[in-house]
Amino acid sequence: MNIQIVKDQAAGGRAGFQIFQQALQQGAKVLGLATGSTPVTIYDELVASDLDFSHLTSVNLDEYVGLGADHPESYHYFMQQHLFSHKPFAQSFVPDGMNADAAAETKRYDDVIAQHPVDLQLLGLGQNGHIGFNEPGTDPASTTHKVALTASTIEANARFFDNANDVPRYAYSMGIGSILQAKEILIVAYGAAKADAVAAMIQGPVTPEVPASYLQTHQNVQVILDEAAASQLA
Ligand code: F6R
Repeated sequence: MNIQIVKDQAAGGRAGFQIFQQALQQGAKVLGLATGSTPVTIYDELVASDLDFSHLTSVNLDEYVGLGADHPESYHYFMQQHLFSHKPFAQSFVPDGMNADAAAETKRYDDVIAQHPVDLQLLGLGQNGHIGFNEPGTDPASTTHKVALTASTIEANARFFDNANDVPRYAYSMGIGSILQAKEILIVAYGAAKADAVAAMIQGPVTPEVPASYLQTHQNVQVILDEAAASQLA
């Protein structure tokens, strides 16, 4: 893993932008994207840049089950707001949270990933070590699946909803196995609340209890941390 420690989230946005720019210079055609608070400064840098995505494909990690593209807390809506409305891609894929047929939706999304192999996958890190919505205990070989969110993830995401009862209980997520197929992975974490998960990801054993620890098995991982997130590294 190649680790960069930056001053704050704004500097992390600039560092993340550089990694996207390099990937595009090297011919990346498919970008794997994430939502949440972490990627926002990277998207701001991408939006402010003169990079052109109109010939590229994006594939998002995950979506809440039951939220449509017009719901302000859906990941479709987030991506539209932070990136796609400013920088349209030739095609953008996000799991369809309104497809109640989980078997059909997860199969459809695995086919999308197979047809559009990801060149650079951006990830945030959950406080419990999750990547995508792959919670502790997820099979490391997993492909796209329907996930029951843990209490800790529901609580962490409640800040985006009026109250915790409004947070969806399920999501569709790329699996750990799907994520590890990306040619290059960029994982970003900020803040002291992520420090234990960061240390476990980088220096702990590779274990299903810390889904992000499987990134130790990938050959091309870039890590961007602020000082607080890096504070538990030995
Ligand atoms: C989002 C995602 C999640 C988040 C993670 C961190 O698409 O898959 O794994 O990256 O929960 O979220 P933030 O960035 O809000 O701390």
